[in-house]
Order: sequence, then C-alpha cells, then structure tokens
Amino acid sequence: TEPLKVGVAGLGTVGASVVRVLKQKADAIAARAGRPIVVTAVSARDRGRNRGLDLDGVAWHMDPAQLARSKDVDVVVELIGGAEGAARACVETAIEFKRPVVTANKALLARHGVSIARSAEEADVPVGFEAAVAGGVPVIKTLREGLAGNDVTRVIGILNGTCNYILTRMEHDRIGFAECLSDAQKLGYAEADPTFDVGGFDAAHKLALLTSLAFGTETDVDGIYVEGITSITPFDLEMAEELGYRVKLLGVTTRTSGGIEQRVHLAMLPRDSAIARVDGVTNAVEIDADVVGALVLAGPGAGGDATASAVIADIVDIARGVKTPVFGVPAAKLAHPKRAPMGTH
Ligand code: NDP
Ligand code: HSE
Repeated sequence: TEPLKVGVAGLGTVGASVVRVLKQKADAIAARAGRPIVVTAVSARDRGRNRGLDLDGVAWHMDPAQLARSKDVDVVVELIGGAEGAARACVETAIEFKRPVVTANKALLARHGVSIARSAEEADVPVGFEAAVAGGVPVIKTLREGLAGNDVTRVIGILNGTCNYILTRMEHDRIGFAECLSDAQKLGYAEADPTFDVGGFDAAHKLALLTSLAFGTETDVDGIYVEGITSITPFDLEMAEELGYRVKLLGVTTRTSGGIEQRVHLAMLPRDSAIARVDGVTNAVEIDADVVGALVLAGPGAGGDATASAVIADIVDIARGVKTPVFGVPAAKLAHPKRAPMGTH
C-alpha cells in the first residue's frame, strides 16, 4: 500500500512529539491506519536547533506555505500557532492545493475556522482539529461524531492546562503565581505568549470551537465573556478550600431560550464535584445532551505527547479516508449565533 506522506509545519513542543511518535510507533499506527504514515517534509524557523529528531531524508522547508504546496506531501500538519501569519498561510495554501489539514491551532480556528471549513469543504478535503481543544482528550470526536444523535444543551470545561496546573500548584504547594507559570512553560504547556493562557483567551478560543460543534453555529469568539486567573492568590484558594470549594477556570457555553451564552471565568465549585477534583494539567469537559444525558471526559490537556496523540488520531482518520464536516454540519449550514444577554442563565 502507498504510504500517506505527512508534512509537519512547526517542530516545537507538539510538532517534535508528533514526528517522534509517528516514527517510534510506525508499525502499530500503520496497522490501524491501513497504510504506512511517513513524515516526508518539515518546517521550522531554526534549522540548526537540535530537536532530538532523526530527520534524515526528510525535506526541510523554511516557508510552511511552501511545505503545504510540496508534491511530496499528502497531508499538511500545522503546529506553528497563531491566528494569522505563517500558520494561516500554511493552512490556506494546503486547502488551495487540495491537501487535507490537521491542526492544533485553536486561535486560528476560533477566528477563521468557518471560512477555512467553507473552503475545505468546497475543495473536498478534511480538516482535523482534535488537538485544538483539551489536548489529548477526544472531545471533538465526541461532539461531532459520538453525539450526532443528540441535541446538546450545555458544555462546561476546564479547558486550559496551564491555568489548572497553576491553580493546583498554588493550592497544594502554596507557591506564587509567577513560579507556577514558569514551571508550566518549562513543561511545554503554555502558549508561545502565555498571556493567552492566564488571560483566559486560550480557553475562550477552545470554547468558541466547542460552541460551534455543540450548537451548529458559526464561531463567535468575540461574544465570549472572558476573565483570566491573574488576580488570584494562594490566600483566595485557601479561603475557598475552608468553605468546601475549589477554584477552577471554567469555560461554559449554554443554549438558552434567549440565545447562546459563552463565558470563561474563575468559579468556586463544591469540592466533591467531578470537575472540581480535576488537578494539574488535566482538562475535563462535561456535556449535557438530550438523549445520552450528561457525560464527562477528562485527561491530559496540554503537553507534547498528549497533544501528539490527538494529532495522530486525525492523521489516521485521513489515512482511512474519513471525511466529516469540520464543525459537524456543513460550514454553509452553520447558523449565525445569537448571543444571549449575559447572566440570563
Ligand atoms: P512551540 O512554540 O513549541 O512551537 C512552534 C513551532 O513553530 C516551532 O518549531 C517554531 O520554529 C515553528 N514556527 C514558528 N513560526 C514559524 C514560521 N514563521 N515558519 C516556520 N516555522 C515556524 O508551540 P507548541 O508546539 O506548543 O504549539 C503548536 C501549536 O499547537 C499551537 O497552535 C498551540 O496552540 C497548539 N497546542 C499546543 C499544546 C501544547 O501543549 N503545547 C496543546 C494543544 C495545542 P522554531 O522551533 O525554529 O522556533
Ligand atoms: N496552552 C494550552 C493549555 C495548550 O495550557 O491548555 C493546550 O491547548
């Protein structure tokens, strides 16, 4: 069987893990995909940097858009990050050249996902973005495929691993915010600009994607009420604990009679609730739906290997020929989201 040729643009925390795992587990992944999956091209800025990867025989492109156009690439995996610039050009070029795309880039999809989905569906190429929400937790597949027979009414989640890691360490180890953030960066959890994490914007990007999938609407990231975690102190967490609560940064999207309410903010949760017990880099998503009832998914929400796991699942889907509308319903049929007046729910 012909191998599926993969081009990986971005060789940082996630990209390097994807290249390494695809090589280390080549046989097992090929068996599941029905054909070998081989990295044929990569792109990053600094060619001299030692990434601990064996890139012998792999083409190097300084320009990710050039990688996306390369004849030696069947699938373009965008792991650069950012809503504009090189990442956007890479994804749009791939679709222009009718190449399937896999991306972990929630900032890009929250802003431009609908137009990307439209052009991808016109070009008849899939776009996988399992890794863009909750890292290794398969929440996109769950909403898009697993719950296709349901009407979802609400999704609540701990959607940012960096913030949950910081809150957990501040609470358990009684250390300050800056030190916790620095550790999260060293562990590869944080965004290139960690303001996106601690300001709540990364969780908002993910929430915008969950809203589209849950309610069949266009993404509306500007309609999200967003607060971050920068003002919290170990003392606040201690007080909450004394009262029987834990403090978590939540993303909440709810369908109400007045429209859709989306918000990201700190919340005090009863200590024993499923989401309150989620610690460290773990993410958790609770989905309320009419047929199945309520379900909770939890697992590693950030980090190279956890995210690579989700990226590779999308690549395997492409190798198998799976084609699902990007947001579950064809992009042309996504409804315009009506914002509910804040606080109605
Ligand atoms: P990193 O910052 O670690 O890596 C980014 C990579 O992109 C680097 O290899 C960098 O090159 C390369 N790059 C940046 N600009 C360009 C450019 N103009 N041309 C070519 N290459 C470029 O990011 P992460 O791996 O952490 O994140 C990648 C994506 O995955 C982001 O969208 C992020 O939001 C998302 N994500 C990250 C998770 C995580 O846990 N880290 C989890 C889920 C999603 P160089 O190495 O030479 O500097
Ligand atoms: N910076 C993100 C987080 C990466 O901490 O959750 C995973 O999307």
